[in-house]
Amino acid sequence: MERIKTGLKGIDKFTGGLPRGKTVLITGNAGSGKTILGLQFALSCCRQNIKTVYITTEEDSKDLYTQGSTFGWNIQSFTDSGLLRFIELAGVRAKVTEAEISIDAEAMKGNFSNFIKDLPENTEAVVIDNIGSYTAKLNPYEFRDRFDLLIYELKQRNITSLVILDSATSKEFNEIALFSVYGAIKLMKRENPYTGRRERVMDFVKMRSTKTPTQFLTYEINDNGIEIISSLESND
Ligand SMILES: Nc1ncnc2c1ncn2[C@@H]1O[C@H](COP(=O)(O)OP(=O)(O)OP(=O)(O)O)[C@@H](O)[C@H]1O
Ligand SMILES: [Mg+2]
Repeated sequence: MERIKTGLKGIDKFTGGLPRGKTVLITGNAGSGKTILGLQFALSCCRQNIKTVYITTEEDSKDLYTQGSTFGWNIQSFTDSGLLRFIELAGVRAKVTEAEISIDAEAMKGNFSNFIKDLPENTEAVVIDNIGSYTAKLNPYEFRDRFDLLIYELKQRNITSLVILDSATSKEFNEIALFSVYGAIKLMKRENPYTGRRERVMDFVKMRSTKTPTQFLTYEINDNGIEIISSLESND
């Protein structure tokens, strides 16, 4: 199976990278690093010469450039070369919200496949950050239907994707979403039982056809972005 490097050395060394053409779900609370992980993956794709689109539903791309620059990432060089494109849905969403109030709430319910209808024909990788913005008013059945359709369409187009679903607004959908995807990584904070200190850990909930760590991977967000700091060879 062909794999794409995530840009996180600890993960790539262990798993070989994400399976090409598949969807991986990223969940986590506010501030857990979902966006940084998404950006890091997008840039890693660009470095592998993969045409990538970053769909952002909450922040505008300027915020993402600013975030990237705190890690010394030159996002602009990839947008200039055409390898990376941003699609900003924040503005669109504002309009949708207005319409919901005044026109037809039913018709506006999160239709996730809209996310990918504007993707350029030759898109090979996509980050969707974050579909949680569009889950309001959906019941679990509707969510599952629409989410499955999104995953199906991405697969049909052979697009490798990271789909971010925050735990803050859509906790109830996290479990449902897990079934449809090829892989899932959950970002969280926990108290280290030995040191009593809080640390960031990621859980490889699943990754089909891939050697995955069973233990939580400890990571930090530092000057280089997200870095895995647990030693995968010596799991306790
Ligand atoms: N340059 C930096 N150095 C160290 N830590 C940083 C740096 N930039 C951001 N962070 C940390 O990363 C966190 C934000 O990460 P990120 O925006 O990826 O979270 P998120 O999971 O996408 O959150 P949200 O659900 O709000 O979108 C900040 O709260 C901060 O703790
Ligand atoms: Mg975010």
